[in-house]
Amino acid sequence: MTDFIPEDKILEIKNAADIVDVISGNVLLKKTGKNYIGLCPFHSEKTPSFTVSPQKQIFYCFGCAAGGNVFSFIMKRDGITFPEAARMLSRQYGIFIPLQKMSDAQKKHHSEREELLAVNRQAMDFFCKMLLNPDSGKQAAVYLNKRGITQNTISAFKIGYAPDGWNHVVNFFSKQKKPLGIVEKAGLIVERANKSGFYDRFRNRIIFPIFNLNAHVIGFGGRVMNDDMPKYLNSPETAVYNKSRSLYGLHLAKQKGREKEIIYVAEGYFDLLALYQNGIHNSVATLGTALTSEHVQIIRGLVGKDGSVVLVFDSDNAGIQAALRSIGIFLNAGVNARVMVLPSGYDPDSYLLEFGKASFLDVAEKARTIMSFLMEALIDKHGLSVEGKVRVVSEMRETLSSIEDRVARSLYIKDLAERLGIEETAILEKVRNASLRTKNGLSKTDQQKTFYGKWEKLEQQVIKMMLQFPPILSEIEGRNILSLFDDARLKSIGQLVLSRKDRLNVKLADLMDLIDDKDQRGIVAALALAENKWDYDACLAILTRFESLRNKDKKTLIKKIKEAEQSKDYELLAKLLNEKQKMAVLTEKKKMTLLK
Ligand code: CTP
Ligand code: MN
Repeated sequence: MTDFIPEDKILEIKNAADIVDVISGNVLLKKTGKNYIGLCPFHSEKTPSFTVSPQKQIFYCFGCAAGGNVFSFIMKRDGITFPEAARMLSRQYGIFIPLQKMSDAQKKHHSEREELLAVNRQAMDFFCKMLLNPDSGKQAAVYLNKRGITQNTISAFKIGYAPDGWNHVVNFFSKQKKPLGIVEKAGLIVERANKSGFYDRFRNRIIFPIFNLNAHVIGFGGRVMNDDMPKYLNSPETAVYNKSRSLYGLHLAKQKGREKEIIYVAEGYFDLLALYQNGIHNSVATLGTALTSEHVQIIRGLVGKDGSVVLVFDSDNAGIQAALRSIGIFLNAGVNARVMVLPSGYDPDSYLLEFGKASFLDVAEKARTIMSFLMEALIDKHGLSVEGKVRVVSEMRETLSSIEDRVARSLYIKDLAERLGIEETAILEKVRNASLRTKNGLSKTDQQKTFYGKWEKLEQQVIKMMLQFPPILSEIEGRNILSLFDDARLKSIGQLVLSRKDRLNVKLADLMDLIDDKDQRGIVAALALAENKWDYDACLAILTRFESLRNKDKKTLIKKIKEAEQSKDYELLAKLLNEKQKMAVLTEKKKMTLLK
């Protein structure tokens, strides 16, 4: 798979794509000493254990043991292959990789994702052109203008127009000799029921391209210009478009979001455009879907652990429903969420148009935390009669029971009890019942994958020195230290390092590309990152100690077995053999647990 991207191109990408720069696109990184740390984008955590080393060009999460170089990061983040990651970075850093160098077989391999992104980009350009066309695009341009969308916004968001008719897009791609199958896969055209061909999905609609963080076009939304139904039509999910991970405006929000450590979350395309036009660039919109935990993870990656999200709702009622649905996600992701409610009947778009930015920011200023918003809104709704209180508790109970952090949960329960003027225990009981029923099987697997035991510790030490102190490599090879290793994975890492030792200095980031197993990459990153100061003598001392410990243990046992055999002490012999057996089983077990 790696073969169709030339080695020199990979090198070029590595030189250009600084790992801190790349990861900053997803994670808010803070400098601490030599390294940067941030909240891991691969598991949920509240204190940062995700470490990036600019010197070594590698990352490692001490929480979930994910680790690797810049390519591994992109691969894991987007769930893509090495060549895809390389191409993505090459585009980002303006490194040209010629396609014609691929063989036919390789061309076939050229991933569907890339094809879909290319088709989407072409379609976007087509729609943009149609909007600019003084004939076909007239009505659409008038509509956008009427809604207050400026030329600047149109070009920033690449807004376009899908002309009226059944085969503008079909014809456009046919002319380019693009196989229509892939255009269909992109969701742009639909096969006719009688299979006699395709027709355009988007007809006579304003087109909003939807981008991912890297500004690739992953899908489209299309709005009618009258009261036809449906008001919006969106791309179906494809290999590149996943609704629960996509947020409209994300690519333009990331920079300001990181700066301000706040992201506004609205609900619609025009809301997002209005926010942007008013200079509130740190905004995204969830396009007709509920906010998911994936959305929140992405946002958290931008605003960081001390950052916050402001959810913008158009009424208390809409707010209550959405808050009830998403509060657990925010609490468990450790993201501080606040809720701002616009006067009933207004969405951000209409509110900004009518009252302007300052007024909007005034309302935003008053945004309350999602929990206190929820409690107050429910109390407002149901009142403080006996039945009212019962209703409030019953609507809150699932939410409260879904909070994993026990301290937080009990504090919220206390808060609610005080607001309602009832006994805490009464709520506690309800909550306990609810958690028995819902019992969400969230695993606690985010534990650090450190391995214990004398051998592993020493074996780790040896690998660490191999990774961090190359002068010792000949010594290790000469004394055949790796043959004493119990841990198969550490051993193979060691062998890999030795196999590269002639390349003057073993570059860690390069080493990562040679390791297929992601757990193994994590181990290497972890061992390479731990800061140790090595000198030759200290290394030798460790090696000698390792050798002697290892040999002594096995050797003494074998020696005793031999002696027992000679003295015909069968009782002792049985015991010793038993011990040897146990030792072997233990070694096996250790290997097994490490492989898990
Ligand atoms: N939506 C959708 N499909 C629909 C209706 C809505 O995907 N049939 C999504 C769109 O992303 C839309 C958002 O839900 O932007 C909010 O819908 P709504 O409030 O009805 O529309 P507005 O965004 O206010 O759109 P407009 O201002 O153009 O009426
Ligand atoms: Mn609207």
